[in-house]
Amino acid sequence: MIKHLKSAADLDAATATLILDTAGEMAALAGREVKKLPTLRGRTVVNLFYEDSTRTRISFEAAAKRLSADVINFSAKGSSVSKGESLKDTALTLQAMGADAVVIRHPASGAPHRLASWVDGSVINAGDGTHEHPTQALLDAYTMRSRLGKIEGLKVAIVGDVLHSRVARSNVLLLTTLGAHVTVVGPPTLIPLDVAAALAPGIKVTYDLDSVLADSDVVMMLRVQTERMQDSYFPSAREYSRRYGLDAPRMRKLPEHAIVMHPGPMNRGMEIAPEVADSSRSTIVEQVANGVSARMAVLYLLLGGKA
Ligand code: NCD
Repeated sequence: MIKHLKSAADLDAATATLILDTAGEMAALAGREVKKLPTLRGRTVVNLFYEDSTRTRISFEAAAKRLSADVINFSAKGSSVSKGESLKDTALTLQAMGADAVVIRHPASGAPHRLASWVDGSVINAGDGTHEHPTQALLDAYTMRSRLGKIEGLKVAIVGDVLHSRVARSNVLLLTTLGAHVTVVGPPTLIPLDVAAALAPGIKVTYDLDSVLADSDVVMMLRVQTERMQDSYFPSAREYSRRYGLDAPRMRKLPEHAIVMHPGPMNRGMEIAPEVADSSRSTIVEQVANGVSARMAVLYLLLGGKA
């Protein structure tokens, strides 16, 4: 088993499949009255969050607690980070406290890689800048597999702000490793060709959402990340939504079995219409539930559990 999970590229097909299978076993636990396993008793998991988060932070906390680990939650707000403490000094503090795993979310791409050189424990990337978010890709793959029965051969369209999306990058890497066919869709300003090429060889790029819908098994909508935009990438929210938003008429073009995904948080009415987000095709709430199982599997396997 790998020690760290910094990138979806750390996962070969066998390792990714083992994590998904283990997540399935963890999910079975969620149906029981007592949702706890004693596996990580006495181990310490630190959640180190330098960026805002709702789902991911709560999900990692629930995952670690269900495995009986001691959980320390650290958020940059209200800590010595606001006094200017560096990531390295914070890392040395965690090291001194004996963290077995550090889950890190950070606005700087590559922060988890630096952290891994300063601590002895496992480092798990919970989102670094515009770079990667590997556990999101795992929970998304898990969701596809549980809804559609497989990943290999699936046609997956990833739509929207690909440029700023760590979710897109990690999904492209993991899905291609697992044999899915990925097309990225969005305005040319948000999918520059070099970005497309850097994501993974063999992925397709199109600027026309309507052209891919009828032939997609999965449509994954991305949040428009205005907080990461220094320039204006499209004329207006209305124009964006008209060309790249998934609304009910567009959803009707999908095959009967196709699912609609979104990692959250959503801009309802912009990249996704409320009636689509709340439809039976939408897996958005399931993705959150699956996130806990996927992160339990990652913590369990990285900290030395057997399948
Ligand atoms: C994503 C993130 O933070 O990268 N959200 C998440 O983890 N569920 C996607 C986003 O912010 O748009």
